[in-house]
Amino acid sequence: MKIKIAPSILSADFSEMGKAVNMTEEAGADLIHCDVMDGSFVEPITFGGQMVKNIRPLTKLPLDCHLMIEHPQTQIKFFAGAGADIITVHYKACKKISEGYLKDTLAMIKSFNIKCGVAINPDVPVENIYDVFPLCDMVLVMSVYPGYGGQKFIPETLEKVKKARAYAVKTGRGDMDIEIDGGVMVENAKTIRDAGANVLVAGSAVFRSPDPAKTIAELKR
Ligand code: DX5
Ligand code: ZN
Repeated sequence: MKIKIAPSILSADFSEMGKAVNMTEEAGADLIHCDVMDGSFVEPITFGGQMVKNIRPLTKLPLDCHLMIEHPQTQIKFFAGAGADIITVHYKACKKISEGYLKDTLAMIKSFNIKCGVAINPDVPVENIYDVFPLCDMVLVMSVYPGYGGQKFIPETLEKVKKARAYAVKTGRGDMDIEIDGGVMVENAKTIRDAGANVLVAGSAVFRSPDPAKTIAELKR
């Protein structure tokens, strides 16, 4: 499976976002990962649809929008209108609203012709989302608790990546994107790829690298 690297602009300098997007594309990134935080589902606030709208004309790469927000349905139209290519919502944010909210949200994203994903925190068993695998283009296994870049990778989450890949294969979705997010570094990338993840988010690894192109190549290799 093709390995894709999705640098997270959370680790970029927000006053130079255009440059950061251009730099990652030139360095060989496959997607731009946009970490949207609302100060409620997670403590910090980052940015909303306006940021996505502003960076959209700067790159051909797909914009991978990771919504760490409560009530994601209220924001889908803004991200869709801004030019998002993938919108991922959190299992926990949806489940606390109602049993059917997650499925409805995925259907809403698809109604805009955009790929959809579901994210699970390190303490959510992957089995909890097996029922939505057929509705998803991507599953996002969080390898840190969301909220901050630069955290340490939680190795126990690799077991969930393996289960997710095995379940995808078993259900005829072997080519499904399985993304991992948090603490991805050149040092642990091989173990992560071997576990079955094919989309690797990398914030600090890319933005703190003296040579982002080399780092991206090493994360893929
Ligand atoms: C965490 C975010 C991640 C994070 C990744 O809440 O969802 O995308 O920015 O950053 P690193 O790679 O530095 O862990
Ligand atoms: Zn993220």
